[in-house]
Amino acid sequence: MRPDGSDALRPRPGTPHFSVAPVTCQTADIMKGLILAGGAGTRLRPITHTGAKQLVPIANKPIVFYGIEAMADAGITEVGLVVGENRDEFVNAIGDGWQFGVNVTYIPQDAPLGLAHCVLIAHEFLGDDDFVMYLGDNMLQQDLAGFVRKFDLERSAPLAFGEDRPPAAAQILLAQVDDPRQFGVAEVDEYGEVLRLIEKPADPPSDLALVGIYIFDKSIHDAVRAITPSARGELEITDAIQWLLDHDYRVMHEVLQGWWIDTGKKDPLLECNRVVLETLQPRNDGKVDGTSRVDGRVVIEEGAELVNSTVRGPAIIGRNTRIVDTYVGPFTSIAADCTIIDAEIEHSVVLERCRIEGVHRLQDSLLGRDTEVIRSDRRPKASRLMLGDHSRVEVE
Ligand code: TTP
Repeated sequence: MRPDGSDALRPRPGTPHFSVAPVTCQTADIMKGLILAGGAGTRLRPITHTGAKQLVPIANKPIVFYGIEAMADAGITEVGLVVGENRDEFVNAIGDGWQFGVNVTYIPQDAPLGLAHCVLIAHEFLGDDDFVMYLGDNMLQQDLAGFVRKFDLERSAPLAFGEDRPPAAAQILLAQVDDPRQFGVAEVDEYGEVLRLIEKPADPPSDLALVGIYIFDKSIHDAVRAITPSARGELEITDAIQWLLDHDYRVMHEVLQGWWIDTGKKDPLLECNRVVLETLQPRNDGKVDGTSRVDGRVVIEEGAELVNSTVRGPAIIGRNTRIVDTYVGPFTSIAADCTIIDAEIEHSVVLERCRIEGVHRLQDSLLGRDTEVIRSDRRPKASRLMLGDHSRVEVE
């Protein structure tokens, strides 16, 4: 059922629960959502060798769920999800989007050919409707509703006041950053209009970097068709927006409130886990024995068990996870079905079904599913590793 209590989004009996090919939707005047969850994910290897980075959990919830929820909260009910080779993993996790109160349409991308390429292949789904485009590995504190409202207001204002300037064709979210030289940077005027975009400028005209959230009207389809691939072989969304500017379309901006994190690398992902854990409401749906201690903001999910252990929040312990003779320190998320015995761990994200035993001071770590980290007393004393391609281990 949708959050408003209706079941209007449920598919009719006999119809598939989700569509895997783009569908045509020509409804005018609605705002759609386009979440980009393809990509190569090279910066998060080896995790991305076996799964999608957008499904890595932050506080035990997949990253892309936060984006879908933000869309639903902004009143968007039609969401297109661009997916690459991990399509089945997304379908298993998200299905038709019913649990979020949205309809999800899967849009397959054969190769990660760029953010503007995603718009190109999503045209059939998007039709002529306005849409919010959201990078599926990004997280932001600000809600989308205000950003969408601002665009709607901006679109209706020139008409309402009888002005003859055209309505804005796009709106981009910008963040103030310390070193703009590493980002796509926007030059803006005092009326909120974007004048120019420059990719990684040596001499930045502002400290306003592009964040992975955009709103476009149908003009973007001409732009993505007109541009050519960049030196790295991708159709760049910054080139498409610059094309709009070069062709006298108006592009507005909003400066981001609060934090924004691109979780595509390990350390920002851990940082994101930290800030989200700090917002959780503590609760205990599991079992904590008399010799265990739980301090601060801690969530213990159903079936989880603490035996002779201390958990100092903010932290979350997933369903059916067993923690024995262990210290779990702040900013740690342990997913479901893990076993942690005689260990100390903090500021880490541990995915499902991991086993950690006899290991002390594990920190700043991201462990993929079914990983084992175990102290061994075998002689000769040594570290014995079996690591996937592109793994990284720092030893004492
Ligand atoms: P990026 O993180 O910029 O690119 P990537 O996923 O290829 O990662 P890496 O640089 O580590 O190899 O992509 C931002 C988001 O957009 C992310 O959720 C993946 C998605 N994306 C697509 O869906 N299709 C694409 O062609 C690209 C480039 C990205």
